[in-house]
Amino acid sequence: MKPLIFGASGLIGNACARLGDEYCGTINITDIPCIDNHGGSHLLRMELSTFAMAHSQPIKQISEFIEKQQPDCIINAVAWSHVDGCEANPEKALLINAELPRQIAMMGRRFSLPIVHLSTSYVFDGEKEVYTESDSPNPLSEYGKSKLSGETAVMEVLPDHSIIARTIFVFGEEILKKNFYYQVRRAVTSGTPLNVPCDQWGNPTYVETLAAGLIELLRKKRYGLFNVCGNESMTKYRWACEILDSLNAGHPLAMSVKSKDLGQPAPRPFNASLSNEKFSSACGISFDSLNNDLVKMLGKN
Ligand SMILES: NC(=O)c1ccc[n+]([C@@H]2O[C@H](COP(=O)([O-])OP(=O)(O)OC[C@H]3O[C@@H](n4cnc5c(N)ncnc54)[C@H](OP(=O)(O)O)[C@@H]3O)[C@@H](O)[C@H]2O)c1
Repeated sequence: MKPLIFGASGLIGNACARLGDEYCGTINITDIPCIDNHGGSHLLRMELSTFAMAHSQPIKQISEFIEKQQPDCIINAVAWSHVDGCEANPEKALLINAELPRQIAMMGRRFSLPIVHLSTSYVFDGEKEVYTESDSPNPLSEYGKSKLSGETAVMEVLPDHSIIARTIFVFGEEILKKNFYYQVRRAVTSGTPLNVPCDQWGNPTYVETLAAGLIELLRKKRYGLFNVCGNESMTKYRWACEILDSLNAGHPLAMSVKSKDLGQPAPRPFNASLSNEKFSSACGISFDSLNNDLVKMLGKN
């Protein structure tokens, strides 16, 4: 596999890129310089919001890049996943989370490249205990609505050659060290407790297994909708405690707080837990236990 990765600087995109370095050639789209309207040059990622508009300069640049580099699939890990930011600016959310994926999928159709598009269990309202691929979405937030629109757009453009991978509570090695694992670790280093919701459920998902699973689904040509997530469902507070245990730190560093007391502007589903059965049987890759994955994180920066 030689994937063209959009969002290769992010948590999931970068894990796919690291994996690609091991056994596929990888193209990091963020490395392509492009010319802005004022004649200056900067990295393509800064232009991706205009990429959502037809006939933009980035479309031309990406087309030329694909023709030259000949990738054999696309992974779209770009998103505006700032849930409260999306609530305040739904138009921007739709542009990045729905219109941009549509344009990327059109690029896939034009060059006959299958696509993996990342999505989220925030497309659900959280009223059910565990969600499968056949459950009907009902997003509560502008983020969830924009991500659902992105799924629909990709499936409309590439109905037979797209993989929509819904995930939740992703953690692991990351360049910017902004995911929840690092937030908890910083609480330990600084001694400042972290407020963590005790009523929001999900599956902690190790990014290395997630990335390997996405590549494997592509390799096996298993197209369609998949929940790609860890096996264990728990509250975010319990997840924080598991991380603290793995670091031999005390639980007081995580403060259990009800969602209503966090003052988050956007509603979150209380239950965003997913079943990964369809993924495991289609892909042949299984997630390890959270404890084992946390041990793997110990040696990492
Ligand atoms: N992480 C999770 O727990 C989680 C849970 C459920 C679903 N997901 C889904 O998984 C996907 C990837 O998530 P992630 O956690 O890897 O996200 P992330 O770490 O925030 O990375 C997002 C990527 O998108 C790029 N990006 C954002 N806005 C952009 C713009 N306007 N133009 C160009 N590039 C832009 C970022 O580039 P820069 O770094 O250069 O800004 C970065 O490469 C998303 O679809 C998200 O909805 C993630």
